[in-house]
Amino acid sequence: MATTLSEVYGDTPLQLKHIVPLDFDSIRHLPDSHVWTEPVDLSSKKNVHESDIVPIVDMTAPNVVELVGNACRKWGMFQVTNHGVPSGLLGDAESHARRLFALPAEQKLKALRSPGGATGYGLARISPFFSKLMWHEGFTIMGASAVDHAKLLWPHDYEAFCNAMDNYQKEMKSLAYKILVLILESLKAKDEETLISSTVSSEGALQLNSYPCCPNGHNQAIGLVPHTDSLLLTILHQNDTEGLQVFRENAGWITAPPVSGALVVNIGDLLHIVSNGQFPTVYHRVVPNETRHRFSMAFFCGPQGDSLVAPMSNLGSPRYRSVTVKEYLSIKNKHLEKAIPLLKTA
Ligand code: OGA
Ligand code: NI
Repeated sequence: MATTLSEVYGDTPLQLKHIVPLDFDSIRHLPDSHVWTEPVDLSSKKNVHESDIVPIVDMTAPNVVELVGNACRKWGMFQVTNHGVPSGLLGDAESHARRLFALPAEQKLKALRSPGGATGYGLARISPFFSKLMWHEGFTIMGASAVDHAKLLWPHDYEAFCNAMDNYQKEMKSLAYKILVLILESLKAKDEETLISSTVSSEGALQLNSYPCCPNGHNQAIGLVPHTDSLLLTILHQNDTEGLQVFRENAGWITAPPVSGALVVNIGDLLHIVSNGQFPTVYHRVVPNETRHRFSMAFFCGPQGDSLVAPMSNLGSPRYRSVTVKEYLSIKNKHLEKAIPLLKTA
């Protein structure tokens, strides 16, 4: 039996203080637990010129392979339009996510992620790396895990939520497959079949994110600290409230603004390895908003836990050693952003 991502993620137990989110509804002032001692520079670059705008790729463009390849090489992030996912389905999933986060805190805690678990309600998985907490609550779904948690949240009415999440995950999986094929084509990869088939058979993970309105007069709070995503690709739907920013050498933090109907795609660590370092695994973060509640839904796509990931053979001498997904996630769980440098071959 293949090792699923949920089995892999479940291997690293966390402490409750790194799992339980604030009761945001009852908070009027930023609590000390969420005041970052170094004031967070929340500014995004002003006077952005065209070369500083996150690329938008029309999936129906005749030269889509080239567009995707360029965006991956130069940015590691882009927004896709004409992706074929019905807007009604995105709206439906978003409204179910909103319904979940709108539940009273004590109700949400019924679906709290267990210390050794990977799914359910709770803080971001990277929380234990920091002494301060993020202004964020999340809900993680892997495969069919939503059913057990939704039954705890809505014992008599859990099916609508589960159906919306199932439909959403199916659409994201099939879009992730299409984008992965375009990306591997742009790399002129020859030995891509195992990677594709292992990714198609893997469940991926869906992360619902909520960033409530934040009393952040002194720029001391952060929604999600700068990080890279671990797997191959992330596809993200954000509501109409901006907050996602991407780090660019020489330009600093650039906002990836909500574009109606578009989905954000970013490269993760494993695709950086597969591309032999040609595609950056992109640093991104979320800044809080004082007046608007932000929601997003991130689908993480990657191969099964025991799959071996390595630079494609046509991309020159390998800059990284090969690694199983499981081993990579366990290195990342210990070393966070130092995980990739640890795999360097020389
Ligand atoms: C994530 C993430 C960004 C967002 O969940 O890994 O980066 O906009 N989310 O919520
Ligand atoms: Ni991320």
